[in-house]
Amino acid sequence: MTTRIRTRVAIVGAGPAGLILSHLLADAGIESVVIDQRSRAEIETTIRAGILEQGTVDLLTAIDPGTRVHTVGQRHDGIELRFQGEGHRIDFPGLVGRSVWLYPQHEALKDLLALRLSQGQDLRFGATAVRVEGVDTATPQVSGTDADGAEFVIDAEFVVGADGSRSVVRQAVAGSSRDGHFREYPFAWFGILCEAPPSAHELIYSNSDDGFALISQRSPEVQRMYFQCDPDADPNALSEAEIWETLQRRVPGTTLTEGRIFQRDVLRFRSFVAHELRHGRAALVGDAAHTVPPTGAKGMNLAVADVIILARALEALLVRNDERLIDAYAETALRRIWKAQHFSWWMTSMLHVAPGTSDFDRLRQIGELRSVVESEAGRTFLAEAYTGWPVES
Ligand code: PHB
Repeated sequence: MTTRIRTRVAIVGAGPAGLILSHLLADAGIESVVIDQRSRAEIETTIRAGILEQGTVDLLTAIDPGTRVHTVGQRHDGIELRFQGEGHRIDFPGLVGRSVWLYPQHEALKDLLALRLSQGQDLRFGATAVRVEGVDTATPQVSGTDADGAEFVIDAEFVVGADGSRSVVRQAVAGSSRDGHFREYPFAWFGILCEAPPSAHELIYSNSDDGFALISQRSPEVQRMYFQCDPDADPNALSEAEIWETLQRRVPGTTLTEGRIFQRDVLRFRSFVAHELRHGRAALVGDAAHTVPPTGAKGMNLAVADVIILARALEALLVRNDERLIDAYAETALRRIWKAQHFSWWMTSMLHVAPGTSDFDRLRQIGELRSVVESEAGRTFLAEAYTGWPVES
């Protein structure tokens, strides 16, 4: 027997984009159902990136004044760009009057899930979307199977794909699940979590002759670090000593504080933007719409910006029957998405050393880094993008 569920907006995906959207819609008096194929425990424990722009923190605080971003999270007023053995600080408040927060995404998800559930949100874990149909009508549907394998159909007035890079909704919006603008990179990140105190006050983005490394943090006791590796690298092939030796070599001029490594992974990365972000009564947000390499720390922030734009458009459509904002959604969101694509690509290509790089390219890269850190205009460009541009309406 098929269960039928009626709602106004069917949201596929309970990541930051889906949960924040359900919240903004509820504020506008619009009921939604959120489904996710993962369990709650899986959503709350998957390790993702950790940098939130000022605008993202402002939104999380408006949604939940008790958010732990201000207690568990940490404000960061700058980053260090390191090359040729020297560190150069980019002072965010001094340059652009804004900061960022280090707050792991799964912690933000714990806050958002608890809040949505306490407010009575219909939120179904273990529910897999299989098909989206009827997006050219006023009553689109999401069909799927729940945690016990039973079939369900959600009848809605609008369907939102917040279902990540392997989006099922993308097929109904873009015509194909792989249709989009792509760029692959000839490297990946080897990521670790270790038990150690922070090695530095702020994040270090380090360019060295051996390749890139990022020294990030998680808490006073746990640190997150990455180094550039081959996309096919096996995370278990290196010993702890080899990992530390690689990291130390990639951050010349400083000594990292070492500790037990308790998690390791290889993150392949690419740039992607779907050809269509909206078709009829369906739209894509977050990783379903685009992917950025992690070097610019834009992933979650870009998802939040999409959602702010889409929530306003859905309120106009579903409360006032005004189609203008939904018709403009893709164009409005894409302006920011392509700026973020450029910034993420730029940080990636400026800091990594591609296999087979020529002397010319290596020296040009150092020239590029110098032209950023030695110029207030250069540092300001970086700080403006890293801390986040204002959201357009
Ligand atoms: C992280 O802490 O996971 C992180 C921080 C900054 C980035 C990417 C990842 O640019």
